[in-house]
Amino acid sequence: MRTKYKPWAVQYLSEHFENQFTLENEELANNLVSFVNEKDTYLEIGPGKGQFILSLASRYPDINFLVCELNKTISGICLKKIDDSGLRNVKLISCDFYKLRDLLKKVQFCGLFLNFSDPWPKKRHTNRRLTSDNFLVEYAKILKLNHYIYFKSDNDKFYEYSKEKFEQYNWKIVYINEDYKDLANFDAETEFESKFKEEGIKIKRLILEKTIDTINNVIEEEKD
Ligand SMILES: C[S@@+](CC[C@H](N)C(=O)[O-])C[C@H]1O[C@@H](n2cnc3c(N)ncnc32)[C@H](O)[C@@H]1O
Repeated sequence: MRTKYKPWAVQYLSEHFENQFTLENEELANNLVSFVNEKDTYLEIGPGKGQFILSLASRYPDINFLVCELNKTISGICLKKIDDSGLRNVKLISCDFYKLRDLLKKVQFCGLFLNFSDPWPKKRHTNRRLTSDNFLVEYAKILKLNHYIYFKSDNDKFYEYSKEKFEQYNWKIVYINEDYKDLANFDAETEFESKFKEEGIKIKRLILEKTIDTINNVIEEEKD
């Protein structure tokens, strides 16, 4: 499901800032910090066009939701949907999550969503996987203690890779389902998920808790 470059979406993204933060503008970057700190906030990395987060945001108006999307066309489409929804508790930042590292030192999230992240099957692209070493270390820094990463995937190899990585970094697996059919309350179907379900592909879901051990592990990583 490749999304073609859409000039209107990229233009929309460059002109609308009611529900958008950017790293390029210091005020808008600081507004991101205020948004996350004002309420319990969840982060989705790679939201696609936003179906998942808009469903959660409309059902949980007292929680804030931030999405970080790398692709400019997809970000523009997602931002327009956020704007059209009239919701005020969901905001977007369009960049590589990894570039947010410095800004996110000032905030802590109540949960992180990784939904159908790109598997990047080639070995030379391992570092781009959203469950590779550098990302798991960052997640431990920005997530509150005893809070969770919510992970879903269609891809067996990427799922196995991710599970091993979570275990390596002492993320505690508190939920595991390798044929996830009925949506949990605090969940929603994503665009990719709908497509994979129609094709009969099994959805794999994990919930990982950040514990004291996860933190210690990260501190050890940083000493190396
Ligand atoms: C396969 S799509 C899944 C979209 C959506 N979560 C769904 O399930 O329908 C993965 C998305 O993650 C985005 N993405 C990949 N790496 C990213 C990164 N480092 N930072 C932010 N977004 C990223 C891609 O641009 C793409 O839109």
